[in-house]
Amino acid sequence: MSKINVVYWSGTGNTKAMAEKLGEGIKEGGKDPEVTEVSKVKAESLKDEPVFALGCPSMGAEVLEEEDMEPFVAELEQYVQGKQIALFGSYGWGDCEWMRDWEERLKNAGAQIVNGEGITCLNEPEEDTLSALFDLGKKLAEL
Ligand SMILES: Cc1cc2nc3c(=O)[nH]c(=O)nc-3n(C[C@H](O)[C@H](O)[C@H](O)COP(=O)(O)O)c2cc1C
Repeated sequence: MSKINVVYWSGTGNTKAMAEKLGEGIKEGGKDPEVTEVSKVKAESLKDEPVFALGCPSMGAEVLEEEDMEPFVAELEQYVQGKQIALFGSYGWGDCEWMRDWEERLKNAGAQIVNGEGITCLNEPEEDTLSALFDLGKKLAEL
């Protein structure tokens, strides 16, 4: 069974819950989800993976978490040409500028964003978000 990586950062568990639901969908789709907190992964390990998912909440002022996720994504950019990447994350009060910037950044580096945009949710993911993540996981398994 081939694996699909889901790499995330989460401070209070909302984006982690999203990552886990995405992993359930990947499993349902017949692939092996590898759901890992970003500090435990090297960007280089995704170099040969054609499809994977990244999750991070909106932090700072509409930016990625700066200690682990930001440097991870900065390093990853050199490897993403031609890859299909799913994005997701929770936010608290903004208008999802962080997600739009993240999508643009990866597209500019040559990646395709699966479904054209990331999945976002206000604070804790509710049933509609979890269901969308489950479906996205199944889709990733089929790509
Ligand atoms: C230091 C800090 C900065 C934040 N900055 C933003 C922000 O700029 N925009 C926003 O919508 N939410 C912001 N939030 C809210 C988080 O994105 C929100 O609480 C989210 O659900 C956290 O997800 P997590 O549980 O995966 O850590 C911030 C939260 C913290 C702690």
